[in-house]
Amino acid sequence: MASQRIEELLRSMSLEEKLGEMTQLAPFFFGVDESMDLTGPMAELGLSPEDIKCVGSTLNSFGAEQNIALQKKHMAEQPHGIPLLFMADVIHGYRTVFPIPLAMGCSFHPAACEKAAEVAAKESSASGIQLTFAPMADLVRDPRWGRVMESPGEDPYLNARMTEAAVKGFQGEDPKAPGRIAACIKHFAGYGAAEGGRDYNTVDISAGTLREYYLPAYHAGIDAGAKMVMTSFNIMDRIPAGANEMLFDQILRKEWGFTGTVISDFAAANETIVHGYAKDGAEAAQRYIHAGCDIEMMSSHYIHYGKELVEQGKLTMEEIDRSVRHILELKEELGLFENPFKDADAEREKALCLCPEHREAARQVARESVVLLKNEQVLPLDANREGLKVGLAGPFAVSKNILGGWAGTGTGVASLEAGLREMMPKAEFVTGMTEELGAMQDGIFDVEDHVAEACEALKECDVIIAAVGENPADTGEAASRTCLRLSPNQEKLVYELKKLGKPVVMLVFSGRPLEIRPMLPYADAVVQAWFLGTEAGTALADILTGAYNPSGRLSISFPQTVGQIPVYYNHYNTGRPLGSAEGRYASRYLDCPNEPLFPFGYGLSYSEFRYSDMRAVVDDEGILASVQVENISDVVGVETVQCYTHDLAGSVVRPLMELKGFEQIELAAHEKKEVSFRITRDMLRFHNDRLEFVFEPGEFDIMIGHSSADVLTQRVTLGE
Ligand code: BGC
Repeated sequence: MASQRIEELLRSMSLEEKLGEMTQLAPFFFGVDESMDLTGPMAELGLSPEDIKCVGSTLNSFGAEQNIALQKKHMAEQPHGIPLLFMADVIHGYRTVFPIPLAMGCSFHPAACEKAAEVAAKESSASGIQLTFAPMADLVRDPRWGRVMESPGEDPYLNARMTEAAVKGFQGEDPKAPGRIAACIKHFAGYGAAEGGRDYNTVDISAGTLREYYLPAYHAGIDAGAKMVMTSFNIMDRIPAGANEMLFDQILRKEWGFTGTVISDFAAANETIVHGYAKDGAEAAQRYIHAGCDIEMMSSHYIHYGKELVEQGKLTMEEIDRSVRHILELKEELGLFENPFKDADAEREKALCLCPEHREAARQVARESVVLLKNEQVLPLDANREGLKVGLAGPFAVSKNILGGWAGTGTGVASLEAGLREMMPKAEFVTGMTEELGAMQDGIFDVEDHVAEACEALKECDVIIAAVGENPADTGEAASRTCLRLSPNQEKLVYELKKLGKPVVMLVFSGRPLEIRPMLPYADAVVQAWFLGTEAGTALADILTGAYNPSGRLSISFPQTVGQIPVYYNHYNTGRPLGSAEGRYASRYLDCPNEPLFPFGYGLSYSEFRYSDMRAVVDDEGILASVQVENISDVVGVETVQCYTHDLAGSVVRPLMELKGFEQIELAAHEKKEVSFRITRDMLRFHNDRLEFVFEPGEFDIMIGHSSADVLTQRVTLGE
């Protein structure tokens, strides 16, 4: 229910003012940075100073001083003194940068993700930001797509837990509270399913796939109270997502009861014309508003055509008011009518950003996000060995360009070298071929070949660390790749270093699973280092020295080769699965296994865990499954116990495995604990062929284990 204030505003605002409220523009439209050429973008969008005075929100305007000044100026000019809403992409931290979301997904620790969002909210709110375009809940299966880095991963359940944790972290109990910001779930819906992994490309998935795999994480974010939803660039069932009434009116509003605000993605309303769904700007505006998109980001069709659409009866005043009501309610919920600056405070901004407490939180989340993929008794390194000679090579050995996308303003980054020097003060370090890797975006595809010099420099080392990967600029939006191999000179570096006869530890810095299969024989240990943020170097040093025992697990499968993509654990069975069909006519590749290189849920530790006594019993509430987990090593460690189910026969086919729960337990050396999971009938529901969300009784395999490829199984029969 809108307040009296909002109803009064709606009665007195002009239609032009309302259409302005429904428009979002970048700060330079407001003349914030006088050095910017205002006429360019103003001319492009055809907006007058009168239009700008009524605009309701801005994006990516950073800094308390700037935002306070902009708010004052705008409110003085806005006919009703309505405050601007300041939104921004605060994706994995603000000044203190946390690991990319895909890496945080690998922590399997929602509380870590919540902490990262909480710190980001504190810092960004002090800088005058009131809402973040995060979390991105898009499910991802295709590492060619650059934006896999912004998603928690390939699993609906894990993504849902991470998404709701992020919403909680940003918003707390109430986004109006000091230090909190509102969250926006994006991109609704199915953006992660772009064909061929090419950004913005066609999406064509069935209604069942949409419901079963793609929607749960968005839904969880809505249920967690996210105040906003952003449309996606792709089409859904042949209609641009933002204009798709099935998505926005039916599913989001009616089925899920979302009462918040919907915003378009950047100029996405305009792109309905390019898609060939709207013939011109007027039709684009009509379709977007009609489908329920309240705010048009960075295009101006609402302002230009809204009035004539109402006059022609193609849009009703109720539709306009519905949208304006959503926006004003959001402003009210954030307390902007009382305090339009919210938490903007230059002093606090300075004190909070990159403060020791935030950096410590970033270091903790970063070390939880690292995944140890291989370890042939090389790691951990002995940090106390006097004079241990450590070779450091590769483009990420000394680089500070390791924050990952959406982290442009980050400073104070700890490089790998700095982290290692801090954690291994008695060691001696030798470097070679540490030149930065250029970006494909800039037409640079490799580093210069200084392999021979590097090998010469490092030949006396006791252990060699090869820090390789991809440039962070080649991950994220508009950063799709078809080849996921390391660049040729990086591969050569690892091959040649291995020939020195010393243990080689390969650290992979990337925003996506890279194709590292060819490198595995040449690396004695492999660490997936992602882009871990401000404390990347210290967190990696914690892992390499064993100050932190790795606990991360892959939240996305690593393909053997690009030709296998998409490869993900929770797939359906075929009628001819490998091993069951006779002769050659089985579902397989002739030149590659069906399995990924590293499966979902996989990750090593310096401890070793043994699973036993798996039980699954049926009771009144459903199924109670339990297992004994023992640390059979001498090292204390954290194990992520995962529980999967398989519904053996249904009225529609069911995935071979579905994650239903996970629990992290710390086990002292040789300690044993029981871990149990409750699986209710509700948790076994799925969408049948009429898209009803039903439980069907029958047989279920319950699986508990260390990863999706390493489980103990019990079969149970569960009735109505
Ligand atoms: C991206 C969004 C982002 C928006 C605003 C778009 O290009 O797809 O994820 O929030 O820009 O920066």
